Order: sequence, then C-alpha cells, then structure tokens
Amino acid sequence: AIERTFSMIKPDATKRNLTGAITKMLEDAGLRVVASKRVHMSQREAEAFYAVHKERPFFGELTEFMASGPTVVQVLEGENAIAKNREVMGATNPVDADEGTIRKAFAQSIGENSVHGSDAPETAKEEIAFWFAEKDIVG
Ligand code: CMP
Repeated sequence: AIERTFSMIKPDATKRNLTGAITKMLEDAGLRVVASKRVHMSQREAEAFYAVHKERPFFGELTEFMASGPTVVQVLEGENAIAKNREVMGATNPVDADEGTIRKAFAQSIGENSVHGSDAPETAKEEIAFWFAEKDIVG
C-alpha cells in the first residue's frame, strides 16, 4: 500500500552538507519527498520528540545532539514507505549497517547516525503530526 513515513536528517549530516546526498538515496529507493523543512530544534522539542526514549541511559546525549544543530524533517511517501525507508537507512549502529545504506555511507557512530525514520505506522503518524500540518504535506 502507499504509505507515508517520517524522516529526519540529523545534525551530523546537515553539518557535512549531506542533505542532498541523503535525499537522493531516499528518492533512488522510490520514496517521494512530500514535505520538507529545515529546523534547529530546541532541547525541549528534542525531549518531546524522543519522549519514548526518556528512560534510556542515552536520552540526554541523544536530545542534546539533536538540538546541537540544524536538522531536515521530511515526510516521505511511497509503496511500503515505512519499511523501505528503514531498509535504505540501514541499521542504527553504522557498524552493523549493510553496504549501500545511508548509515553505512555516512553515519559516524550509533548516536551521530545521520538519519532517523519511523519504525511503524502509528509512530509515523505521530512523528509526522509533531512537525507538519496536513496542509503542508503535498502529495
Ligand atoms: P533514532 O532512529 O533517531 O532513534 C533513537 C536514537 O537513539 C537512535 O536513532 C540512535 O541514534 C540513538 N541511540 C541509540 N542507542 C544509543 C546509544 N547507545 N548512545 C547514543 N545514542 C543512541
């Protein structure tokens, strides 16, 4: 089915001017960017966005990193978009990421791993709604 998913290009990647290179890999995988904006989130926004991880030992490190520079938040649309995006991103830890994936190509560590993508339909819906109004998504 045609789905929408949420994708974020993280500060380690925007800093290295990789927004275009990463977006091209998403597009080459058959995903379409139907909304996109560059945001420098506050610490509070990062904590709210990643609230599901608030009990994890790396929560502080994660949210400080996400608020440390610009990110690009995007809505991607396509056939099986959620799974397809996770496939092209590669494993969370770049050491485990397959050849040809975004994280294999660009990620620097498990924290500075260049991209985030929704893991399920419910989280995709929530993460899209966190950053975008329906009228700003143009399919
Ligand atoms: P992401 O898909 O954005 O969702 C949560 C993030 O937490 C994950 O990608 C990683 O970048 C980050 N993360 C997971 N484990 C660790 C860890 N051990 N140390 C730092 N960050 C982590």
